[in-house]
Amino acid sequence: MLIQDVSFPLRDGRTALLRSPLPEDVPGTLEYLVKSAGETEFIVRYPEECGKYTPEGELALFERKNASPNEAMIVCLVDGKIAGNCEIVFYNQIKYRHRATVAIALLREYWNLGIGTRMFQELIRIAQEREGLLQMELDFSEGNSRARALYEKMGFRITGVKPDALRLKDGTLRNEYMMVRKMHPEKEA
Ligand SMILES: CC(C)(COP(=O)(O)OP(=O)(O)OC[C@H]1O[C@@H](n2cnc3c(N)ncnc32)[C@H](O)[C@@H]1OP(=O)(O)O)[C@@H](O)C(=O)NCCC(=O)NCCS
Repeated sequence: MLIQDVSFPLRDGRTALLRSPLPEDVPGTLEYLVKSAGETEFIVRYPEECGKYTPEGELALFERKNASPNEAMIVCLVDGKIAGNCEIVFYNQIKYRHRATVAIALLREYWNLGIGTRMFQELIRIAQEREGLLQMELDFSEGNSRARALYEKMGFRITGVKPDALRLKDGTLRNEYMMVRKMHPEKEA
């Protein structure tokens, strides 16, 4: 799915651009995948697990997501550089197609500038246009208070916990929390 370009001001005065990924975003995205994995434990992959990502693979992924009616990827550019991305995937199966799942990650230097908030506004807008969609879903890891604050601000609520879902290299176990955002909470009250 392709999205319309969105420009918006960041908290530091710069301008950011949200748009669907283009072939020219491949090198920046590969760099972002490795760098972001090493900057925070709240991303599932470790940097050494990024070897599987190749320019051809990323390009194919962009093309598949841009062409799919059930998926959208949005990249954020600041000063022409990839700051991060987010995505929404609509389930296709009949019993699941009232649901969508979302994910987001930005490079550390771009945290707390309002990009996450603007990306979620866009993801919610896309979800609202989807006929029959009743809920958006996501997971976050124990301790990720910044992500939790963003998600709660955007209307998501914790609905469950997967105990010890993540095991870090030093053996630390972390719970994973599930969150849901109801699209029409008033109808379901
Ligand atoms: C989580 C993430 C996507 C948030 O995006 P962001 O652009 O930094 O978010 P925003 O700047 O729009 O908003 C962050 C909010 O969290 C608040 N916040 C910042 N640090 C916080 C903290 N330690 N605890 C609680 N809230 C915090 C900010 O005040 C802001 O809320 P406000 O707009 O009401 O003031 C981003 O930080 C990120 O990519 N982190 C690493 C990867 C990751 O954790 N991804 C999510 C995996 S589930």
